Amino acid sequence: MSPFQITRTLPEDAMAAALRADVLTGLTFLPKALPPKWFYDALGSELFERITELPEYYPTRAEREILVTRAGEIAGALPARTLIELGSGSSEKTRYLLDALSGLHSYVPVDVSDSALTQAGQALVAERPDLNVHALIADFTAGLTLPDAPGPRLLAFLGGTIGNLLPEERAEFLAGVRTLLSPGDALLLGTDLVKDEKVLVRAYDDAAGVTAAFNKNVLAVVNRELGADFDPGAFEHVALWNAEQEWIEMRLRSRAAQTVKIAALGLAVDFAAGEELRTEVSAKFRKEGVRTELDAAGLELSRWWTDAEGRFALSLSTVR
Ligand code: AVJ
Repeated sequence: MSPFQITRTLPEDAMAAALRADVLTGLTFLPKALPPKWFYDALGSELFERITELPEYYPTRAEREILVTRAGEIAGALPARTLIELGSGSSEKTRYLLDALSGLHSYVPVDVSDSALTQAGQALVAERPDLNVHALIADFTAGLTLPDAPGPRLLAFLGGTIGNLLPEERAEFLAGVRTLLSPGDALLLGTDLVKDEKVLVRAYDDAAGVTAAFNKNVLAVVNRELGADFDPGAFEHVALWNAEQEWIEMRLRSRAAQTVKIAALGLAVDFAAGEELRTEVSAKFRKEGVRTELDAAGLELSRWWTDAEGRFALSLSTVR
């Protein structure tokens, strides 16, 4: 067996059906909203990689700092034989964990983007021929079946992506994670932390306009996949801090009254001038909130690491 295997647990047509359902629901109910997972086609994944290099976008650097300084401690706390990574993307930061986990047998990256998985997986096996890489094209919000791989298992969900789920979705997601874990396994979770509003808003509204292009890319995805006629130029990128919910919201604001046709759905969607379509929430956390959410899912927070500036946290939790 080749040390690199890729499994599509989510058939291409199931993904297409999920997009249709999300677009139909999201554009016919008010306020209009689309789930952020549809940003990540090949171009969207590339734009996200560029975001992580922006001076304003601190989470990636803050999380990398924690991994660089704490990978040894993490590996000591949970000497995993299998590392499962949800939303692995380019797997770039994972290298620190892979290098620190000396007894590692298998790496299971899971992502909806097969372009990112294939690229990252092939680069990795070239460097680490000792490692079994079993990539899964899957939507981890929809329940997962993991390949057989030895324990103890460390399930990593980095980047603060859990913040892209709404509170009820997070509860459901964490409960699902709990069912994937056995005693002795652990969850390594990255969470961006509540901080100064200006710092937060700048991170989602950069001067170079990369985040604006990333945000508008969801319209290009709907155009290509569902034959829609969105004009990305007819929408303005909006990033705002919702202080009550403690999350950043990205929206696309219609610059004028317009009607968009979505051929594959036989749908015409009216936008009023100034009407906003919510494309993402990115929740920011506090330690006690993270502990409470983990606890409700049957997980116990055992370690908590932040970067020196206290911008971002990695937590390790075990099965209770
Ligand atoms: C890494 C997916 C969590 O919410 O900060 C970056 C995505 N959106 N800029 C985040 C994102 C806008 C990012 N996640």
